[in-house]
Amino acid sequence: MKKLTVLLLIMLCAMQVKATEQKFIRISTDATDLILQVAPNGRLYQSYYGSKLMNEVDIKNLPYYVHAGSDGSVTPRGWEVYAGSGAEDYFEPAIAITHNDGNPSTILRYVSSERKEITGGTETIILLRDDKYPVDVTLHYATYPKENIIKTWSEIKHQEKKPVTLWRYASTILYFNNANYFLTEFSSDWAREAQMSTQQLQFGKKILDTKLGSRAAMHVQPFFQLGLEQPAQEQQGNVLVGTIGWTGNFRFTFEIDNVGNLRVIPAINPYASTYELKPNEVFTTPEFIFTLSNQGTGKASRNLHTWARKYQINNGQGDRLTLLNNWENTYFDFNQELLGNLMKEAKHLGVDMFLLDDGWFGNKHPRNDDHAGLGDWEAMRSKLPGGIPALIQLSKEAGVKFGIWIEPEMVNPKSDLFEAHPEWAIRLPNRETYYYRNQLVLDMSNPKVQDYVFNVVDKIMTENPEMAYFKWDCNSPITNIYSPYLENKQGQLYIDHVRGVYNVFNRVKAKYPNLPIMLCSGGGARCDYEALKYFTEFWCSDNTDPIERIYIQWGFSQIFPSKAMCAHVTSWNKNTSVKFRTDIASMCKLGFDLGLKDLNADELTYCQDAVANWKRLKKVILDGEQYRLVSPYDCNHMSIMYVAPDKNKSVLFAYDIHPRFQEKLLPIKLQGLNPEQMYKVEEINLMPGVASTLDVNGKIFSGDYLMKVGLNAFTTTNANSRVIEITAQ
Ligand code: DGJ
Repeated sequence: MKKLTVLLLIMLCAMQVKATEQKFIRISTDATDLILQVAPNGRLYQSYYGSKLMNEVDIKNLPYYVHAGSDGSVTPRGWEVYAGSGAEDYFEPAIAITHNDGNPSTILRYVSSERKEITGGTETIILLRDDKYPVDVTLHYATYPKENIIKTWSEIKHQEKKPVTLWRYASTILYFNNANYFLTEFSSDWAREAQMSTQQLQFGKKILDTKLGSRAAMHVQPFFQLGLEQPAQEQQGNVLVGTIGWTGNFRFTFEIDNVGNLRVIPAINPYASTYELKPNEVFTTPEFIFTLSNQGTGKASRNLHTWARKYQINNGQGDRLTLLNNWENTYFDFNQELLGNLMKEAKHLGVDMFLLDDGWFGNKHPRNDDHAGLGDWEAMRSKLPGGIPALIQLSKEAGVKFGIWIEPEMVNPKSDLFEAHPEWAIRLPNRETYYYRNQLVLDMSNPKVQDYVFNVVDKIMTENPEMAYFKWDCNSPITNIYSPYLENKQGQLYIDHVRGVYNVFNRVKAKYPNLPIMLCSGGGARCDYEALKYFTEFWCSDNTDPIERIYIQWGFSQIFPSKAMCAHVTSWNKNTSVKFRTDIASMCKLGFDLGLKDLNADELTYCQDAVANWKRLKKVILDGEQYRLVSPYDCNHMSIMYVAPDKNKSVLFAYDIHPRFQEKLLPIKLQGLNPEQMYKVEEINLMPGVASTLDVNGKIFSGDYLMKVGLNAFTTTNANSRVIEITAQ
């Protein structure tokens, strides 16, 4: 009987081979192949994801059925690319729908595929369809061959009579077949962003997710590293690095099944988000951006950095402004005259811009602390009698540009806005309201609120066309989850809110394409590649203690280029020198957030010199290839270097954190240089009157020597730093 069933099944499969031609879809970069296969049953399976196959002829031999039934039967259960629900796959699906008739199953079959050229690469588009219900899913894979990056997203659409309920809607699924899997996650909190930790995955699920709505990445960042066979390493080994472009609730599911295969599912978090999808409405999932490196995380990061500068970050190829911010210096306590003086200080320091932070707005409800004023974006007359125009005039007189802080998605109950539109705030109608930082989140699913938020920027820009920069903050998660606008469709809130945010970002970018904007969220709780399509850079953390910043910047650098990472010199951890604090900030987009009164004459001269050096070398630091040489997670030191694309210039940063007494110091072996080229090694960013103690300062070496023998740049001094310029001769 059993034999007969197997025979029948095999015959059925054979019939399907005729009905549906077996087909391979090869999604390639220069380094990897992701190969999908339409099986005889008409369904689409992942056949291979790994280093690029050399011989096209091998592809037709790739398997598609990974799970043979334990009784020897043929089963359609396998590595289905967009696994449905309610059928024979017992693990986490990509899609789940309750249809109009209450049926909860979805099985998708291949219909067609096409390819088109996009800037920097190719896009493969695959149409899948359920043969029992009018549901279409379109899979998109944008590949960037040179950078070895794939970006994938899906579109879900149906033509049932009434809305269907969508309760799973992944961006994609990737499958792996290895003996061991090690996940590196980036846990966070306020002032503790992007802390890396690694664990081995075991049978079952590990989920990384957020339910915070806005300020969504406060506890975990939307990216991960997956070491295959061994924990992810910097310079060797196979590692998948992935990140989702969604400025809201996201969920990464890592599930090891009964036979030890791993599926990775990046998605919007379906938590409290059953989505009523109307007929013909297209549900577009976020982009999942990933790279598979066989040379460790260092190579994966460089690929992501280059790709992001070229194709994803707003003005990724352009310049960045150095700045002086007033937040840590004055908090809410300033006036027009004081700001005018700070602008002169900015000029004296040598930075490009003065950035005015929180506390400049609100009249009936003045923003003199964080209890009032959010929502009322009129300059506070008592502090700033001449309003923004007078500040722009003062900045011109000082000879610097002027930028301003806003937090337009939020409202304080103590504001004109809340008095006029209490229904614009997300708030439960029948429970006591919980306030995070004394504020509420505006309901961005409401188009009227979107108009209002867009107008915050538009009004400032229209009245002050010379406004050079915005810092766009977002300090509260969504609390008291209820949208007065969505009424009985509360399941849409988390998703439609984020889409509303993107509508506004889009309108701002369309009208002001050259406006640089910093993405900020109570520190670094909003760092993702979708938001960065609209923003030029992000604020990594309110924690500017340089020791802590070493770890925070190391963490973010795994995914983002230094060009997108704002780092400011402040008065946090005054036990460390101004030089150390500045050298740490100098490895990213440099800014200052202190008063010059905090510096003595030598420190000021040092800072002016460091700003000038940074400006001179910013093409290398911001646009060069980054090599993370020594990890602070491995020892009491850290080192990172940047190499210009033509390899003629490089900058090495070396930091001693808390070395032990008589600790053995190892030379730093450089990377990325031309071995044939001779380079001069010179320490820069020295305090006035202090000579370099670098034993080889001013000497010339070949790239080969610097990469094989290295430089003795570490010391046994606590919180010590060296910046070394390396120039081709
Ligand atoms: C949080 C940000 O991270 C800080 O830099 C500062 O802008 C404050 N908000 C202002 O309220």
